[in-house]
Amino acid sequence: PDFETILTEKRDAVTLITLNRPKALNALSSIVLEELITAFAAFEADDSQHCAVLTGSGDKAFAAGADIKEMYEKAAADFYLEDFFSRWTSHLVKAVRKPWIAAVNGFALGGGCELAMMADFIIASENAKFGQPEIKLGVAPGMGGSQRLTRAIGKSKAMEMCLTGRMMDAEEAERSGLVAKVVAHDVLIEETMKTASQIAAMPPMAAKVNKEMVNAAYEMTLDQGLLHERRLFQILTASEDKAEGMAAFIEKREGSWKGR
Ligand code: HXC
Repeated sequence: PDFETILTEKRDAVTLITLNRPKALNALSSIVLEELITAFAAFEADDSQHCAVLTGSGDKAFAAGADIKEMYEKAAADFYLEDFFSRWTSHLVKAVRKPWIAAVNGFALGGGCELAMMADFIIASENAKFGQPEIKLGVAPGMGGSQRLTRAIGKSKAMEMCLTGRMMDAEEAERSGLVAKVVAHDVLIEETMKTASQIAAMPPMAAKVNKEMVNAAYEMTLDQGLLHERRLFQILTASEDKAEGMAAFIEKREGSWKGR
């Protein structure tokens, strides 16, 4: 489909989705959200695609937040009645069972930081800057920042970030556990696509199960999570890819996957 605010491209088994409003630092307007929902649904439905990468166009920003000019026009009742922010989690987190990575190339502020944290993990360029500056606008995170940032980096740092609105650079973000790794700015997409291709080459159903298991750690007690893990593990042992994967290891060859 033709999009106005994002670009999508398939490179082998990896879908690259690029936020494309560089003049507004890729601010997340309602059109961006609708287009992301469409793009992620297409990725999820496409049997040839096994991992996605989301990044921002231009040299400066992943996304500098929800679109402030759009939010300025809206009344509280509009926010409540649209329940706009619920669609981010329902469509980009819950509905997407295939793995996807955020490649953060610059500012990831407010909704931009929150969007990056919806990814399965974040790879950041040395120029990346993370923050929840909503407090400076008289509001607070609305797309998961208070919850996902706290789980990612702990209460003390998350509280400090939300209360001061300050930015965190890539080095601190890696040290704090917010990002999986930091790479040089000019190789960000190349390096992230490499990681994505590696993931895309894994047995696809096992990838979904691994994702589901790790995400369960956010939602369950340790006991529930361990039971959930064991049951999913046991289910996977019935898959054709388990038989193939173990046979391939024993026969010292590459496996070839059915995705079931
Ligand atoms: C709309 C934005 C924007 C945003 C930047 N722009 N951020 N437009 N929404 N979130 C626009 C600017 O208006 C400007 O357009 C152009 O992008 C370039 O931005 P500048 O400010 O000129 O760039 P610079 O001086 O380099 O500063 C970069 C920046 C700054 C530090 C990232 O743009 C900034 O502070 N942006 C806002 C960050 C923020 O508060 N994000 C949280 C939003 S609230 P024009 O046309 O003027 O040149 C949020 C809530 C989440 O996300 C949901 C719960 C409510």
